[in-house]
Amino acid sequence: MKVLVTGAAGYIGGTFCHKLLSYGHEVLGIDNYTNSDKKVSEFLLNNFNSYSFHKIDIAKEDNSLDEVFKNHKGDIDCVVHFAALKAVGESESKPVQYWENNIISTLNLIKTMKSHDMRKLIFSSSATVYGNNANQPLIESESLSPISCYGSTKIANEYLLNDVAKAGDIDVVMLRYFNPVGAHSECIIYDDPYASPNNLMPRVIRVALGIEKQMYIWGNDYSTKDGTGARDYIHIEDLVEGHIAAIDFVKTFSGSTALNLGTGNSLTVLELIKKFENINGIKIPISFEKRRKGDVAECYADPAKAQKILNWKAKKTLEEMCKSSWKPFKK
Ligand code: NAD
Ligand code: WQD
Repeated sequence: MKVLVTGAAGYIGGTFCHKLLSYGHEVLGIDNYTNSDKKVSEFLLNNFNSYSFHKIDIAKEDNSLDEVFKNHKGDIDCVVHFAALKAVGESESKPVQYWENNIISTLNLIKTMKSHDMRKLIFSSSATVYGNNANQPLIESESLSPISCYGSTKIANEYLLNDVAKAGDIDVVMLRYFNPVGAHSECIIYDDPYASPNNLMPRVIRVALGIEKQMYIWGNDYSTKDGTGARDYIHIEDLVEGHIAAIDFVKTFSGSTALNLGTGNSLTVLELIKKFENINGIKIPISFEKRRKGDVAECYADPAKAQKILNWKAKKTLEEMCKSSWKPFKK
């Protein structure tokens, strides 16, 4: 099978490309390196003959994107669209940049797909589309309500793709990721702790590395079991396997559907830090701070729909997630 992957140099896209290639598939990777560098593509190019890479900004260089499709006319089996800007805080201060990049990318991609009679698409959505929702665990039919500009662009992408699928132009599976953590098994690709992350696990890694002295916990007065925020952490390896199952499914599927990729387990910040400390033998000093603006108390998936439709289930344990997240940095 030949798969075109946008955002191929990023944390999830890179891990996914490596998995597909190691299963013997052919991959055409595209990225503009806005939030990544050459390291992942160079590793994949050096290790797999069935990988090719194109540095293209898909929001701006639609002619180059068209060239790639033209050169592979009729033999791309599926497109997996990871490319997006994803930092919640940054999206609030740069709304035009986020709307432009995250919407025009998808528009260019589906227009190019249509002009080359390619209709099978997997899209990276996010649990952020549910916003602040009291009905937990979350099922796909819950109302969508953005709490950030980034979240708005993900919902807008879902609406766009639903409309295009309704018109009969594409068949799309929109995967709503919960909280991906962990590194790729060979430690080549990970959520970069050096790139000023806001997410919990790369920030725990910064403390473990000594870059930060302590872990600031954003709020301990939520109505969760210990007062800290609760989320559904999913191992990156399980997440990418979900995409492979989605490619298999979309081959014979018509229309659009959204699926939660999560474990169905709700875990607090303190529980995650405790587990990280125990499994890796590293002390993570903490300090309780005020709630972070825009945070929800709890957010976890009901993954039943994805489990049934894709015949997929997240298998990795919390221990494996904590071990794997630290593995690339272990001396
Ligand atoms: P990432 O930033 O590591 O990867 C995204 C990649 O897309 C980057 O390499 C970036 O350079 C590239 N890119 C951005 N705009 C582009 C453009 N116009 N043209 C070409 N390449 C472009 O992020 P990630 O964590 O791997 O996320 C992948 C996808 O999953 C994103 O769509 C993100 O919104 C979504 N998502 C991520 C998370 C998470 O916690 N990591 C959770 C839910 C959803
Ligand atoms: C998890 C918990 C924080 C850092 C974000 C995006 C969402 C999605 C996933 C892409 C919360 C707490 C964190 C820290 C802390 N991304 N925390 N101290 O908030 O679920 O979602 O990433 O789609 O769109 O909003 O994940 O990892 O940022 O936070 O206490 O230094 O950890 O308050 O309770 P979140 P997160």
